[in-house]
Amino acid sequence: MDTLVQSKPNTSQDTFPILGTDYIEFYVGNAKQSAIYYQATFGYKWVAYMGPETGVKDKVSYVLQQDKIRLVLTSSLFPDTEISRHVAEHGDGIKVLALWVDDAEWSFNTAVERGATIAGELKIEEDEFGVLKTASIHTYGETIHTFVERKNYHGAFRPGYEKRESSFPVDPVGLMYIDHCVGNVELGGMNKWVKFYQDVMGFNLLITFDDNDISTEYTALMSKVVSNGNGYIKFPINEPAKGLKKSQIEEYLDFYRAAGVQHIAVATNNIIDTVTKLRARGIDFLYVPDTYYDDVFERVGKIEENIEDLKRLNILIDRDDDGYLLQLFTKPVQDRPTVFYEIIQRKGATSFGKGNFKALFEAIEREQELRGTL
Ligand code: FE2
Repeated sequence: MDTLVQSKPNTSQDTFPILGTDYIEFYVGNAKQSAIYYQATFGYKWVAYMGPETGVKDKVSYVLQQDKIRLVLTSSLFPDTEISRHVAEHGDGIKVLALWVDDAEWSFNTAVERGATIAGELKIEEDEFGVLKTASIHTYGETIHTFVERKNYHGAFRPGYEKRESSFPVDPVGLMYIDHCVGNVELGGMNKWVKFYQDVMGFNLLITFDDNDISTEYTALMSKVVSNGNGYIKFPINEPAKGLKKSQIEEYLDFYRAAGVQHIAVATNNIIDTVTKLRARGIDFLYVPDTYYDDVFERVGKIEENIEDLKRLNILIDRDDDGYLLQLFTKPVQDRPTVFYEIIQRKGATSFGKGNFKALFEAIEREQELRGTL
């Protein structure tokens, strides 16, 4: 069953305006090295920094940017801090999915009135570049949403941070914006969090996938996709379903030791160029066998790209009523099999690559098997 509840946003009824993703903050064990990784491989440029050199004694944060995507990499300098505890518990992982809003105070108060739990009260910070307002609420696991109002702020990132530049030539790979952020939640948690986004931020349920859509011989999962009023924010939420062996969602939950962000999908306008560069720089991707391409055109019809390029780079293709999409998934980007990236190029398609689920999950199972966690 694939229930398409609604495929187009209905902006006339947007009860919780969000302008886009403001930043994604990772808590990591070694922000300095993570920052080099994201610059050298994905081609993010270093734009701002906070740490002892800027007067902050207990932590460091590196802010990296590529087009509209902003990553913040944060590490603690001491063991007995919330950041160190988070890293010890979850490994490197995503702490903050920050949402860019016009009015942080209104967004925060409205979310809390509608049932959100407070993670951080309204903070008004000021420096010579203006005023920045933020406030945070909890979502699944230990993940939080920070509402960021930056219409009166013109600095590099936010007060307390200093502008920086990469110290070596950084070549962007064409990543443009966050397409969607996927959360893995515990068994039975999916509907609860879908309702949370509907009730608190007026999100719409876009698509439901059950375990008949997303299953292989061994493992299964269920997923629902919610999206905000203007459609800029899309949060698919997965929960494990019963299979013969351990599902990839359970493996994630075991290693992250909580619900959390599973993958971030980043959009490109030229996936062949993006993936060529990423492969040359050492990024590992999930592998689908060449047989995937045997009948792919019967499934997706005519596409503009050269099949040999797609095959060589192992890029997946899917089609829906609105067009087609090209996508590819990295292997986890830290030691624990938790967070990974999706590279996606949309050519009209508004869906999430359902036609690739089976091939993908078989690819993930091959990786699980190698880790002994299937
Ligand atoms: Fe995805």
